[in-house]
This record gives sequence, C-alpha cells and structure tokens, in this order.
Amino acid sequence: MSDTPREETLRAFDAAAADFTALGRHLWEPIGAATAAAARLRPGDRVLDACCGTGASAIPAARLVGAHGVVDAVDLSGPMVAELSRLSTDVPQVHAHTADVTKWEADAYDAVLCALGIFFFPDMTAGTDRLISLTRPGGRVVFTIWRGESMQLAGRHLGRAVAAATDTPPAKERDPHLIDRINQADSYADWLTGRGLVDVEVAVHELRLPMTPEVAWLVITGSGFRRGLAGLEPDTVDAVRWHYLDSLRADGVTELDATTLIGTGTTDPARPARTE
Ligand SMILES: C[S@@+](CC[C@H](N)C(=O)[O-])C[C@H]1O[C@@H](n2cnc3c(N)ncnc32)[C@H](O)[C@@H]1O
Repeated sequence: MSDTPREETLRAFDAAAADFTALGRHLWEPIGAATAAAARLRPGDRVLDACCGTGASAIPAARLVGAHGVVDAVDLSGPMVAELSRLSTDVPQVHAHTADVTKWEADAYDAVLCALGIFFFPDMTAGTDRLISLTRPGGRVVFTIWRGESMQLAGRHLGRAVAAATDTPPAKERDPHLIDRINQADSYADWLTGRGLVDVEVAVHELRLPMTPEVAWLVITGSGFRRGLAGLEPDTVDAVRWHYLDSLRADGVTELDATTLIGTGTTDPARPARTE
C-alpha cells in the first residue's frame, strides 16, 4: 500500500534533520523558546516535549527546569532525535526518545509541550487529549500551531516549481483538516477549552522570515515541505530550487509569515490522576 500524504511528510522529517537545525535559528528556535516560556516551568519540573524535533522547545525547557528537572523529548524521527542528542550534551536533563508520542506511557508530568506537532496526529483531537492525560492534575500544557495561512505561501511556490521542473501538473491541494477550522486565536481557544482545560489562553507569536535565497530554500529542505522533493534526482532538485526562487522573485515575495498561536491551559486540579 502506498504512503498517505501524512506518512510521506513524516518520512520527510528524517531527510530534513540536518537542514532542520540550520533553519532552526530563523524559525524553530524562536517559536520553541516562546513555547517553553509559556509553560512557566520551575526548577525541578518533569516535562514531556512531544514531537520534539531537534529540540527547539526541549532545550530551552531543560534550561528552565535545571539540573534537577527532567525533559522527556519524544519524536518519531530517529534522525531528528539523533540531532537533538548531539545538540543537548550540555543539558543532560534532556532524555531524547524515538517513539510515537501518542503511545507514550509515562505520566503525571508537571507540563506537556508540543510545538507544531499536534496536527500531525492521525486523530488530532484524540492525540491531544492523550497528551493532556499525561499531565498531572493542575499541570500546564502548551500546544503551538501555525496561525491561518502561515508558511503556506512557500508551499504554493514549491508546488509550482516542482510542476515546472518535472513538467507535471501541480499537486492537488491537501484534504481539509480540523486544523483549518481552528487556526485563529478564538477558534483555537474554544477547541482547547473543549479539551477540558481551564485558564485557556492563546497568545499570537508574530514572526516573519526574510526570504533571502538561502532562508527561502532552507524553508523547503529543513521542514516537512521537503516531502515535495522526495524521489527527485539531484539535477531535478536543482531545477526545482531555481524555479522556486524565480517564482518568489516574480511575485515580489521578500518575507514569509511564520506566525504561530501558542495555546496554554491548566489541567483541572480536581481531575483524578490517570489510571489506565
Ligand atoms: C514541524 S516539526 C516540529 C519539531 C519541533 N517541535 C520544533 O518546533 O522545532 C514536527 C515534528 O513532529 C514529529 N511527529 C509527528 N507525529 C509524531 C508522533 N506521533 N510522535 C512523535 N513525533 C511526531 C515529526 O517527526 C517532526 O519532527
């Protein structure tokens, strides 16, 4: 059976791991730092960083919880986790694991973070509810998602470039997804409240990437967009790069909206601890 688009994107993260780190300075790190800061962590806290990637939120979280805390950082992609292990040698409180976090068993975390990951779960609501269940009663959760059309401009120009370089029709738009209905602050807050959280807040984290040729191409090779290059020969990838940069230039694109919504909440202090 062939892979679903979601499975293809997840495999793209394996290939993207090295460029993911290079793009991190511009994109993942500021978002990850803001995600960790929103958790109001204290020294000694136990934290789960779900869909950790190369550690954009796990590493700042580890600095906030200090040497007596723990950050279990979990990602499906072995190459991403290997990169995190390389980057986190000075924060041994980061414990990096290759696993499907929707099946993670440890619980009673003081905080659970997930930056730009929950929309990859096969069932976004069930996966998020499961992460919430791993938080202790009265613990904090922070789930960060893209706002509205963030990042999508790059995907559109990539789609055009792949079509031009391979002389094929543009790939069809992806199927509708729950994330399309909750990617604004109000709708996202309502959805989080529906998860049984209290004190829900959604902060808008504005970010605009300057689309220099170097950053614009890293946006493709260091993210899930890399899926668009899967199976292409190196010469064809070079042609895609040329068409992509040309397409951005032709449309006068000089920056990319990378704004996120940082959703925070507290698990109900009266909720019984997980028993399953
Ligand atoms: C856009 S990246 C974000 C990585 C990191 N949180 C950051 O902000 O830099 C999404 C990550 O989610 C991971 N992922 C998706 N589904 C997952 C799952 N079920 N369990 C663990 N990791 C998952 C992917 O492998 C990928 O590394």
